[in-house]
Amino acid sequence: MRLKRTVFVFISIIIAWFTVVFLYFSQGFGEQHRKLLFNQISHLENGIQEQFKSNNEIIKETRKFLEQKKQLNKIEETGANLFTQPLVSLLPKVNFDFQENKLPVLVFACNRVSVSRCLDKLLEYRPDPDKFPIIVSQDCDHEDTADTIRSYGNQLTLIQQPDQSDIQVPPKEKKFKGYFKIARHYGWALNQMFFNFNFSTVIIVEDDLEISPDFYEYFLGTYPVLKRDPTLWCVSAWNDNGKEGLVNSERPDLLYRTDFFPGLGWMLTRNLWLELYTKWPRSYWDDWIREPAQRKERSCIRPEISRTKTFGKIGVSNGMYFEKHLKYIKLNEEFVSFSKMNLTYLLKENYDRDFVGAVYKTPVVKLEDLKNNNISVDGPVRLMYRKLNEYKFITKKLGLMDDFRGGVPRMAYRGIVTFFYNGRTVHLAPSANWQGYELSWS
Ligand code: UD1
Ligand code: MN
Repeated sequence: MRLKRTVFVFISIIIAWFTVVFLYFSQGFGEQHRKLLFNQISHLENGIQEQFKSNNEIIKETRKFLEQKKQLNKIEETGANLFTQPLVSLLPKVNFDFQENKLPVLVFACNRVSVSRCLDKLLEYRPDPDKFPIIVSQDCDHEDTADTIRSYGNQLTLIQQPDQSDIQVPPKEKKFKGYFKIARHYGWALNQMFFNFNFSTVIIVEDDLEISPDFYEYFLGTYPVLKRDPTLWCVSAWNDNGKEGLVNSERPDLLYRTDFFPGLGWMLTRNLWLELYTKWPRSYWDDWIREPAQRKERSCIRPEISRTKTFGKIGVSNGMYFEKHLKYIKLNEEFVSFSKMNLTYLLKENYDRDFVGAVYKTPVVKLEDLKNNNISVDGPVRLMYRKLNEYKFITKKLGLMDDFRGGVPRMAYRGIVTFFYNGRTVHLAPSANWQGYELSWS
């Protein structure tokens, strides 16, 4: 009985021992397991959070990229160029100490050492280096041309277009890449002139232009008219119909208004550049500027006899145009003191009343009679045109330029193209109740 009790006690103790050990271990095990689980969960949580963070980063980057792409598309749509962008951010830093009293000449150069022909004349005829600083802007990184320009020392300032990267051009327009480069250069250089040098007016010349002796005097004299008349947006030295036989060589003082932008030696103001630089096109800047959206019914002043002549037979456009047309444009040789003349007849109000009024009082003649010099009256006469083919026919017969931009015939003012023929002034004019240019005429 005693043994039985002892065995019972012994067995009980062993059971208790096992229970305690089991309980102890099973509890420890659970704790460890929980810890392990906890660690794993927090690890997972950290992982998820990391993932979250990096997802957010990716989303942010994507948004930024899309935003940039949207802006780029917008810029492409409006035709503005990337190089104009940094300037927007530069604007607040611009100092507003404008060089009001200067009429700087900006010369565009690239890879033609013959720029010296242009520069020699610009320097020879310059009456005052202080009033007319010459800034030569060179594109194309052409060393010989840069050396040629540098050889003029401090008579001029050389700046160089820094972005020589290749321009992406639609495949169809590959052969016109030059026009993209020219537009990029123009945008950059004009930004320099107006926002870095702070000039308030700029006269633009290209490296293949030779100027007349009174080139500076022409711009000096017309400057006040340009500033005063908001319906004028440029003064140009060029007459597209300025061939020897089509101008009155006795009237080098004669000036006109034209709705056609002639370019080729021209003056613009800071205000116009402020309007254009944000939407400056990627190419063909001169045809772009002639579109109604840019022109806004404004006119330029142009001379009877050109104050520039181009000698750039080999250039971005082909030599045909040069051979057929440009090389015949007469360069004025006689000095006219424009700055001492009263040029208020060019103000729109006066011009529309007096000049346009006079045009419609001239007798109408037939093309054949004009050609054969079979006209009994003296003085100016008028040729009428009503339709596009009529206009084309007459201009071809007389050797005038027959093309249009934005519906405007070359050198036209309110549709009137004035030239000189067989010793008299002739107005090729639409009907007196002219209603505006036909965009479809081209
Ligand atoms: C024609 C026009 C010109 C206009 C150009 C743009 C005539 C006679 N000429 O150029 O007034 O600006 O179209 O549509 O109508 N240049 C550069 N970078 C280049 C290549 C040229 O800056 O990569 C410069 C030249 O130095 C020059 C100007 O751009 O000053 C025009 O170049 P040019 O080769 O003379 O072309 P055009 O056919 O006369
Ligand atoms: Mn040229």
